Amino acid sequence: MAVEIVVGEKFYPLFSCRKRYLVMMGGRGSSKTETAARIMFYRALRRRHRYLVMRKVRRTLSDSVVEVFRRFFLEQSIPFEYHIAEQVMAFKAPAGWSEILFRGIDEPSKIKSIKGITSAWLEETTEFSKDEFETIDLSVRESDADYLQIILTFNPVESEAPWLKERFFGASPDPDALTHRSTILDNPNREVVRRYLPILDKLKHQSPEMYQIARLGEWARPEGGIFDWPVEELPADMKYDSIFYGVDFGFSIDPAAVVKVYRRADFYWVEELVYEAGLTNADLAKRLKDLGVGPRERVYCDAAEPKSIAELNRLGIRALAAAKGQDSVRAGINFLRSVKIRIVQGSQNLYNEMRSYSWRRDRSGQFTSEPVDYKNHLIDATRYAITGDAEVLNAGVSRVMIIGG
Ligand SMILES: Nc1ncnc2c1ncn2[C@@H]1O[C@H](COP(=O)(O)OP(=O)(O)OP(=O)(O)O)[C@@H](O)[C@H]1O
Ligand SMILES: [Mg+2]
Repeated sequence: MAVEIVVGEKFYPLFSCRKRYLVMMGGRGSSKTETAARIMFYRALRRRHRYLVMRKVRRTLSDSVVEVFRRFFLEQSIPFEYHIAEQVMAFKAPAGWSEILFRGIDEPSKIKSIKGITSAWLEETTEFSKDEFETIDLSVRESDADYLQIILTFNPVESEAPWLKERFFGASPDPDALTHRSTILDNPNREVVRRYLPILDKLKHQSPEMYQIARLGEWARPEGGIFDWPVEELPADMKYDSIFYGVDFGFSIDPAAVVKVYRRADFYWVEELVYEAGLTNADLAKRLKDLGVGPRERVYCDAAEPKSIAELNRLGIRALAAAKGQDSVRAGINFLRSVKIRIVQGSQNLYNEMRSYSWRRDRSGQFTSEPVDYKNHLIDATRYAITGDAEVLNAGVSRVMIIGG
């Protein structure tokens, strides 16, 4: 079996590190996720493993980490099977079949029953609380692995997980941890670097804190937050006035983002449905249909992409262009700030975007009334949906007034 494991040079030492904690912090697109998957595969060349791969919300693993393993196994012609119902992937390495269990902290019953884990990976570790981390840490203790290791991969957003900084980057470093910092420049895929670097460099003045996190891979706390939406379960017995959707089209490195919005008076519950890169419009239309979006349901999209909107319509989706115009972003944000928005529990990527969505700074460092144009896919989808629906509402009002007058 000839397998080629390509990773950036800066990551080489991680493959032979036997410490309990492999702490991989870094900027956006530094190849942390891709490399962590390869480290797990590499270890399985020599002996069989039973890995645990976790994110806060299990559902978010399917679009991201599961795909990374799947693509790697396909490219390398490594036999594998994925059992969706059990959330288990099995793959065949020279040492035999190994297993990867994909789990979320949102399914505590599924974690309790886990036995014989030989190593674990906590993707987007800043999503976990200190208690959650410690519970998992305790459950990965006994096995016949050569060494038990927990890999942590994350962007260093200090405000999300002060405990993580304290635990591994504090005054007295943990002797059983290797901390590693990477940036986009460490990504071995030159094409990704070429496309992503300018996007990250643009953050320098717009948001020095976000630049520090995303471009430099250093701890910082984003400032100038725009929204502060609470997270709630979707009320089960509510009779909604309307239900509609928002779409922000993706392209190669930006994910396509879809939200479902439930409105009752001026209360809106927003649920994340899709957050995935590399989808064509046809894929997107299929995903929407699979998610139960009917041909008459309103789907508000980015007006800057009329071609994509037309294509979705041809594919049986009632795609509509959201409000457009020079001031539509600012006006849209103001509108969102004037109504009551809740994030539906489990919409982790939306929550992450909301927490980092902030006002742009000007050259002198003052906040402007424009948002930083970054990590705003689900936020934009939300804006398209809610302002699109509000326009429909207003149109209804003016029609009534004309008839009445
Ligand atoms: N070893 C590799 N071989 C080929 N392509 C790679 C490799 N590593 C990374 N890439 C490419 O770079 C992109 C970014 O990598 P990855 O998602 O692992 O970065 P990340 O550090 O996890 O980013 P983020 O901070 O946003 O989570 C991937 O989508 C993939 O296209
Ligand atoms: Mg990643």
